[in-house]
Amino acid sequence: MRSKRGSCVSLSAKNIPPAVTALLLQGAAFLLAYLMLGLFGIGSAPLEFALFTGLIAAILSRIARLAIWWFFIQLLFAPAIVLMLKFSIPPGFFLAAFIVLLAIYWSTYRTQVPLYLSSDKVWQELEGLLPENAFRFVDLGSGLGGLLEHLARIRQDGDFEGVESAPLPCSISRLRTIHLKNCKIRWGSLWDCDLGQYDVVFAYLSPVPMERLMKKAKEEMRPGALFISSTFVVPDCEPDLRIAVDDLHRSTLLVWRM
Ligand SMILES: C[S@@+](CC[C@H](N)C(=O)[O-])C[C@H]1O[C@@H](n2cnc3c(N)ncnc32)[C@H](O)[C@@H]1O
Repeated sequence: MRSKRGSCVSLSAKNIPPAVTALLLQGAAFLLAYLMLGLFGIGSAPLEFALFTGLIAAILSRIARLAIWWFFIQLLFAPAIVLMLKFSIPPGFFLAAFIVLLAIYWSTYRTQVPLYLSSDKVWQELEGLLPENAFRFVDLGSGLGGLLEHLARIRQDGDFEGVESAPLPCSISRLRTIHLKNCKIRWGSLWDCDLGQYDVVFAYLSPVPMERLMKKAKEEMRPGALFISSTFVVPDCEPDLRIAVDDLHRSTLLVWRM
């Protein structure tokens, strides 16, 4: 990698995941609301108390500089619990919903990389970036495996791999690619993946891991191999090529040659 990128990566200190911060702030809001109730009698009815707790939690979230959507989540969290309790929904329903969401989103609360899918226009654009001869390709966080299935069908001379940490998307993508001999999907973390094995490394993640991922790519990838990020930039690290994709999300492919 060229020396101008030597300054590309400087990892910042590890932060508490926003979901944990949000939960702690809910706890603090509950205590403050309880104090107000004791001192001034504010919020004596359950829904009133929950609304007051939500308002305090939402304000604390802004002060703590959580992303704007946390304001609304925090505001509605306690009132939603009170309203749900009124409907006497069986606890098994919540357990089932929790298990399904856990299987889909797994460690998103920590990684801050949720499941959303790249468009078929991105897949088509990627076709043009693949090497001419036999090669190895990895999709880091392969989601439902649509991208891998598409490319592995079109380029039978390539070896395609996916690594996915969430169990349900991983199982679905294994099923949909089971018929493809040149495609395999591993259940695990992208951070345990040796990027030195691949000619093309693709990632469609979120802004959060990009700095760390570029550091890993620089350490492990072979000279001449391609690192491609869909949409998410690496701070202070200009790509060699940017390709605007005319899809719904207005994706951009950012390409670095190592
Ligand atoms: C935005 S989706 C991209 C899906 C797919 N690559 C595509 O282009 O359609 C990101 C995926 O990365 C997975 N993921 C997040 N962190 C991961 C990690 N540390 N190791 C493996 N997969 C991860 C998530 O579960 C999610 O399925």
